[in-house]
Amino acid sequence: MGPFGATDGSLRATDGSFLGQMWPSTRVEDLRKFVLRLTNVEVRYDRVILVLKGLSLEVPEGQIVALLGANGAGKSTTLKAISGLLKSEDGEVSEGTIELDGQSLADLDPADIVRRGIFQVIEGRRIFQHLNVEENLLAGAHTRARKTLKDDLQVVYSYFAPLKTRRLSTAGYLSGGEQQMLAIGRALMARPRLIMLDEPSLGLAPLIVQEILEIIQRINRESGTTILLVEQNAHLALSLASYAYLMENGRIVLEGPPSRLRENQDVQEFYLGLTELGEHRSYRDIKHYKRRKRWLS
Ligand SMILES: Nc1ncnc2c1ncn2[C@@H]1O[C@H](COP(=O)(O)OP(=O)(O)OP(=O)(O)O)[C@@H](O)[C@H]1O
Ligand SMILES: [Mg+2]
Repeated sequence: MGPFGATDGSLRATDGSFLGQMWPSTRVEDLRKFVLRLTNVEVRYDRVILVLKGLSLEVPEGQIVALLGANGAGKSTTLKAISGLLKSEDGEVSEGTIELDGQSLADLDPADIVRRGIFQVIEGRRIFQHLNVEENLLAGAHTRARKTLKDDLQVVYSYFAPLKTRRLSTAGYLSGGEQQMLAIGRALMARPRLIMLDEPSLGLAPLIVQEILEIIQRINRESGTTILLVEQNAHLALSLASYAYLMENGRIVLEGPPSRLRENQDVQEFYLGLTELGEHRSYRDIKHYKRRKRWLS
């Protein structure tokens, strides 16, 4: 299955007549347009702890794809498996394949994977605290030739105005929102084809989150950069993405366009906090949820 597997992405009237294209169609001849494909991926930590248990997903070029799931589902592990960062945590892909445009990423180190066009913005916005904003941005471009750096800085500043104002400020003193902007700006400096964002909303005020996500959407629209967005905030992620995966316990348990996930009662109750009557649920109600997970087996 996958973003294009379930349907060809066309929007049709009940009589079958063609109304429009919601996302690019995916017939066999289009498959090479996929940016990224994971097939039955297993990941183990310390050679024994099995965390990803046969995970498959696809991220097509130019799209925003959301990866949702509760704490510990394996979202960050998935991103690290793709970016090659697992190795530094004693993790390994023990089964399955991770391919970019049909080419395996196995055995590449993280710097090679960045050169192939994939950049992960790590959870918790790890930036160089003691360097200033501009030095941080330049560090993001270390895999590239120096020629266009000035232009690239201007592009980042055009998306993130606060970074321009504070370009000589020490990064460690920036606000949380500004630090997240810096982390994303640094990704842009690598001119990636795919940016993977691990919970960009974490710990930020709703207004800042909204602002940052709008900028992510603009980057995707204006530069065609593909985005894989990991979020616990399902409302936000589904409002942005053209396709979404829900993972639980190391596997994908539900996938589809956002409308399909929003229609799912479990997603509504557990991730969107709505009851059948459309009311918000308290966390206390949600704890009963575990007894009746409907999307599994
Ligand atoms: N380096 C590691 N060594 C051993 N186990 C790990 C390691 N990193 C993660 N895990 C385990 O793998 C599982 C998935 O973790 P992961 O960080 O991928 O989840 P997540 O979906 O990103 O969760 P969160 O929403 O809390 O960030 C968890 O049970 C976690 O304890
Ligand atoms: Mg995580």
